Amino acid sequence: MGGQKRIGILTSGGDCAGLNPVIRAVVHRAISAYDWEVLGICRATNGLMARPVDVMMLDIPQVDSLLTIGGTVLGTTNKGNPFAFPMPDGTLGDRSSEIIEGYHLLNLDAIIGIGGDGSMAILRQLSHQGGWNLVGIPKTIDNDLGLTERSIGFDTAVNIATEALDRLHFTAASHSRVMILEVMGRDAGHIAISAGIAGGADVILIPEISYSIEKICEKIHERQARGQNYCLIVVAEAVRTESGEPITKAECQGQVRFGGIGHYLADRIAEGSGAETRVTVLGHVQRGGIPSPLDRLTAAAFGVAAVDLIAEGKFDQIVTWQNRQVVSVPIAEAIAQYSTVDPDGTLVKTARGLGICLGS
Ligand code: F6P
Repeated sequence: MGGQKRIGILTSGGDCAGLNPVIRAVVHRAISAYDWEVLGICRATNGLMARPVDVMMLDIPQVDSLLTIGGTVLGTTNKGNPFAFPMPDGTLGDRSSEIIEGYHLLNLDAIIGIGGDGSMAILRQLSHQGGWNLVGIPKTIDNDLGLTERSIGFDTAVNIATEALDRLHFTAASHSRVMILEVMGRDAGHIAISAGIAGGADVILIPEISYSIEKICEKIHERQARGQNYCLIVVAEAVRTESGEPITKAECQGQVRFGGIGHYLADRIAEGSGAETRVTVLGHVQRGGIPSPLDRLTAAAFGVAAVDLIAEGKFDQIVTWQNRQVVSVPIAEAIAQYSTVDPDGTLVKTARGLGICLGS
């Protein structure tokens, strides 16, 4: 596909650090290499639903400062599935045709969607229904999208969780306490296991491995016997109670919000070990802040590759990181495979090798 083109870009799902560097990379590549027009679509697919369509023309000077800025200048949403959109009367309606029309009103040749598995599934359905040319870029602090070793936002989140453990270490030691850090990860324990190893946790609990309070208390007592009167525990928010109940705060449009496992564990561990416990729920701090160098680097590589896919006329593809390079795969294949922590994989073996208790 040669000649002048007009492409759109949107960010969808929960925000994270690294989205703005992706936008910057896409604009740089599209304009400096191909002399295309780039339209930033605001608030994910909501911008395409709005009339007039809610967009901003993006150019190089405008995006140059985005490298170090967290969040997304385009705005985003992790609610409002267009196929089950919340209507004013409280029902859910299908507004996909308005969104599809928005793409065509803009005369777009292609659209780049930056999102996780949920967003990618929705964008793909819209693209098939509406004849869009779609290219995807993976982002999710949870790092649970299939077929890619990296997703935008994960590295920054791990850095933040690791720094939190570094800080908790000193206060835990000063007060001889058990400190529990609850981190995000809706279905997978990637942040917990990575930050736990990097931050020197004594116990790491992830949804992929079941645990018992007894084993955790044994670890605390083992440390005490060695004169180490404190303990650092990191737990992924999706870890369940000992009897297998999820601890959720609310459910919104079919999406569960986790939260509370840290406090549940604190009470059980205090009872079982006699130790004083405190809880830190890191929450959205993990999604904010300055993107890490690795997230910026991945953003640059993904942004350039996504624009090049459009130039080659390769659509319905998502860029991924595999074996030190960017390769594209069909979006359908990436969203069909869900990446969780492998209980027999390197990180779990490493944690066990270091004597870290995984609860079992
Ligand atoms: O999927 C990313 C994520 O940050 C999860 O780790 C977390 O459970 C969820 O989003 C939080 O969503 P919200 O921003 O709606 O609270």
